[in-house]
Amino acid sequence: MYVLGIETSCDETGVAIYHSRQGLINHLLYSQIVMHNEYGGVVPELASRDHIRKLVPLIKQCLQESRLKNSDISGIAYTAGPGLMGALLVGAATALSLAWSWQIPAIAVHHMEGHLLAPMLEANPPEFPFVALLISGGHTLLVQVEGIGRYQLLGESLDDAAGEAFDKTAKMLGLGYPGGPKLSALAECGRPRIKFPRPMTDRPGLDFSFSGLKTFALNTINASEKSGQDKADIAASFQDAVADTLSIKCKRALQQTGLSRLVVAGGVSANQKIRASLKEMAAKEHAQIYFPRLQFCTDNGAMIAYAGCQRLMAGQQQGLEIFARPRWPLSELSQVQG
Ligand code: KG4
Ligand code: ZN
Repeated sequence: MYVLGIETSCDETGVAIYHSRQGLINHLLYSQIVMHNEYGGVVPELASRDHIRKLVPLIKQCLQESRLKNSDISGIAYTAGPGLMGALLVGAATALSLAWSWQIPAIAVHHMEGHLLAPMLEANPPEFPFVALLISGGHTLLVQVEGIGRYQLLGESLDDAAGEAFDKTAKMLGLGYPGGPKLSALAECGRPRIKFPRPMTDRPGLDFSFSGLKTFALNTINASEKSGQDKADIAASFQDAVADTLSIKCKRALQQTGLSRLVVAGGVSANQKIRASLKEMAAKEHAQIYFPRLQFCTDNGAMIAYAGCQRLMAGQQQGLEIFARPRWPLSELSQVQG
């Protein structure tokens, strides 16, 4: 079956078509980054309006490029949360209107489940069970995954998400939005000479806290001469601290669960330093590590089409009433048997 996937939870309009046997057929992404950059962060109302402008043309283009007709599509998957309410509503209303007019089922997809399953789109996908580290702009989660919808939360951030810490620190360094990739580019020219804390690694447990790193960065910036080199060194030191902290917690999660597969996904998993540090840790632990390709680390329609296809194939579907949840715990998802 061909499934159309729609992602509109934040600042990217993503559309994709996934086929249950052939795999990913096509995916398109329209990023609103340039528009929000002017304001230093995502402006929710502007995000919703831009999704309205871009979503339907993107769906048409995706079908055309795939040489598929509307009638070839057997199901529609859309991101129903978590995310910005207005942005989610655009995706939900569009998906459900199309499902009604095409007389096909629709399925609400959890954005973080989309991220978690993104490595399944790669040539060598992980088998269940595994530990998943999900690091995005809004969430930092460590999850024990036994199957689709079988998620046990091992740890989460008690304050800022990893991506949020990157974005806020980047802003303090005078870099634009989104800060993660910009900070990481600046860190290339820096030396990690400043010893940032590794928050919550000196006590047991798998929770995270990143807001202290941001404060530490601010104090360090204020105490420095604010030269270009100082800023690059601060960026490199901050990035090392996040990478180290994530590696320490993932190592602990692998040891605690006895599992030997680690999946890392979400926007921050595009960070090369973090990827390298986690790979090194996994090798030492004799664990296999899996990442999505770089373009599927950040938000995209392909992961939503994939997750929705698995649930639709298992016979799940929703009614035509709009379902959108800005907050939606992963633990509330239903299991997919198999
Ligand atoms: O998963 P995502 O695209 O959207 C959310 O679900 O939030 O993640 C976006 C986050 C932003 O905070 C962005 O700064 C961060 O991922 N990010 C990065 C990198 N690329 C994106 N952080 C660090 N290094 C990167 N290369
Ligand atoms: Zn995301």
